[in-house]
Amino acid sequence: MPSLGVNIDHVATVRQARMTNEPDPIWAAALAELGGADGITLHLREDRRHIQDRDLHLMMQTVAVKLNLELACDDEVLKIACNARPHQATLVPERREEVTTEGGLDVAGSKQRVADATKRLKDAGIVVNLFLDPDPAQIEAGHAVGADAVELHTGAYASAVAQLASPEQLEKLLAAGQLVREAGLTLHAGHGLTYRNVRPIAEMPGMCELNIGHSIISRAIMVGLEQAVRDMKRLIE
Ligand code: PXP
Repeated sequence: MPSLGVNIDHVATVRQARMTNEPDPIWAAALAELGGADGITLHLREDRRHIQDRDLHLMMQTVAVKLNLELACDDEVLKIACNARPHQATLVPERREEVTTEGGLDVAGSKQRVADATKRLKDAGIVVNLFLDPDPAQIEAGHAVGADAVELHTGAYASAVAQLASPEQLEKLLAAGQLVREAGLTLHAGHGLTYRNVRPIAEMPGMCELNIGHSIISRAIMVGLEQAVRDMKRLIE
């Protein structure tokens, strides 16, 4: 059974929309843990659009389950990661203008950079996970740079399911998953997974970890909104 890493960046996005102190992703991480999350995932972006340095430092002290820090191969955040020493680091590509992480890391096209980042993180005792498209050339390169795990990008699969498209994207993921396992790497997946499309991914042979954010936080707003309004109404009355 794969473990569930809950990505709490979206809570920080709501906070940053007002530059205030709520909702606090630290609370969200604690509640996710109470709900049974096996891990908490957060992305310290170079532009700090959601998660802040303070969030990482507080979560390092408060999160009891696995902490998975997503980051780009950027000197400043690599330094922060190596000092903070979360359990796992996931190397992702980053572009300032993107709404969310759009594609997998191009490890085949930037082998030395990713190899250097991987070594720095591993030397600090951090497990290294690479966020890759289900592309054999990328997986081969990911293996060559010495990563411990590969998180397959499920974004194209999620879009295909939403558009009721062919099962081609799932087949791609299944083939890529086999390559990851044959290379001796731990298999993870994430991005765009929802309550409707998660099952075939959770059932993939050897799947160890799923990282899910937007769909869980979206549902939380819905299942928790009624109570939040009731609480405010009671105070006003
Ligand atoms: N995995 C990685 C590497 C990501 O960058 C993200 C998005 O931040 C996720 C998983 C979670 O994606 P979603 O919010 O679509 O569930």
